[in-house]
Amino acid sequence: MLLKDKLAAQIPGLREDISNFIKAHGDKEISKVTVAQAYGGMRGVKGMVCDTSEVPPDKGLIIRELPIGDIAEKLPEEIFFLLCTGELPNKAELADLQKEFAARCEVPAYVWKVLEAMPKDSHPMAMLDTAILVMEKESKFRAGYDKGMKKTEYWEPMLEDSLDILAKLPNIAAGMYRMRFNKGPRIAPKKDLDWGANYAHMLGLADPKGTLADLMRLYLTLHSDHEGGNVSAHACHCVASALSDAYYAVSAGLNGLAGPLHGLANQECLAWVLETHKKFGGVPSDEDLRKFAWDTLKSGKVIPGYGHAVLRITDPRFTAFLAFGKKHMSDDPIFTIVRKVFEIVPGVLTEQGKAKDPWPNVDAGSGALLYHYGMTEFPYYTVLFSVSRAMGMCSQMVVSRAMGYPIERPKSLPTKVIKKMVGA
Ligand SMILES: CC(C)(COP(=O)(O)OP(=O)(O)OC[C@H]1O[C@@H](n2cnc3c(N)ncnc32)[C@H](O)[C@@H]1OP(=O)(O)O)[C@@H](O)C(=O)NCCC(=O)NCCS
Repeated sequence: MLLKDKLAAQIPGLREDISNFIKAHGDKEISKVTVAQAYGGMRGVKGMVCDTSEVPPDKGLIIRELPIGDIAEKLPEEIFFLLCTGELPNKAELADLQKEFAARCEVPAYVWKVLEAMPKDSHPMAMLDTAILVMEKESKFRAGYDKGMKKTEYWEPMLEDSLDILAKLPNIAAGMYRMRFNKGPRIAPKKDLDWGANYAHMLGLADPKGTLADLMRLYLTLHSDHEGGNVSAHACHCVASALSDAYYAVSAGLNGLAGPLHGLANQECLAWVLETHKKFGGVPSDEDLRKFAWDTLKSGKVIPGYGHAVLRITDPRFTAFLAFGKKHMSDDPIFTIVRKVFEIVPGVLTEQGKAKDPWPNVDAGSGALLYHYGMTEFPYYTVLFSVSRAMGMCSQMVVSRAMGYPIERPKSLPTKVIKKMVGA
């Protein structure tokens, strides 16, 4: 496998570099922690390493030195290769990775049985995470660990498990969509389609203009990674640092993505846009929209899709989705509201003065695009996000195992001790 070959060639040099770096500079300081940060979700504390991507507050997502806006048109498989190796694949490497995905895409029959046995009103995220977890017995990492494999070899079965999970995720996610929302029998994958196009095909949505595959590829590329400290990446990393295998770790990360302040925001965001549409019987005037935004804030709620823990600009991923919408559905009223919200809400949030970032994040527009294609089941949206984000989580795990990073164990303190430390 060419991806494995490339990693195998890179890893010894990378290990040596990090080891020398720690030896030479290990006692230097890169961050301080204030009392407010300890109580405030560790915002801004620089205490983790993530080499797959970074999110400078004034630039947005950069994957291995490439700004997401410059690579938004790339296939998700290319992005996964880039995340893992720091290089975009050449033609042969891409074809080889796609061949791996095709060869591993079949979902074990017991997964469907477990999903079918779940309550009919289970949240799609609970179903997805269960499906991943129930496949844990397939883990090549656990099998290798039980046989006593060497620490320097950990990354290889971690990559194998990652590819197995990623290859199966679109099938599981699409099959689940059809099962959970009564869309009819599952649709078999087509081995000649790329990862994103196959997902679009297996969902079975009406696609008269033949553009859904483009949206799925874009969606999967844009959500793939967002450095290491966000809830899903961090949860996944923390679990994997205990040498739990990729099935445990990806499932854990996605459980975090299911939260309303993280991945679930995209379903909440479209719900807010649709509520606006319903309340005003169509696209509202600027004044009506401004008032509605204020009403939301005054009722103690957040405006979903706006604000970010790290970013301080319009998320370039939102910009890419907006461009797709302008190209393919400029007369769609729901998309028109999304555009209008972008014109009005940053001003309202700025005037309110609470949110540190009044600009749209990735969730502000993506739901409206899916809705346009008839995917009206909001609780499913985070599943799409998950299929994509699994690429980031998996690549981060492969890198962590390759570098031999240890178990995570930050130090916590009781309030009494913190008070004493600062003389309060
Ligand atoms: C993303 C988010 C969770 C980041 O949280 P954060 O890092 O704590 O954000 P801030 O530091 O800017 O928060 C400061 C205050 O502004 C508020 N705020 C932030 N974004 C807001 C928004 N979109 N609408 C209303 N209030 C918002 C916060 O709730 C907080 O209020 P509090 O002091 O009363 O608790 C937050 O912006 C949010 O809830 N946004 C809406 C949900 C969303 O889009 N999530 C998807 C993220 S990709």
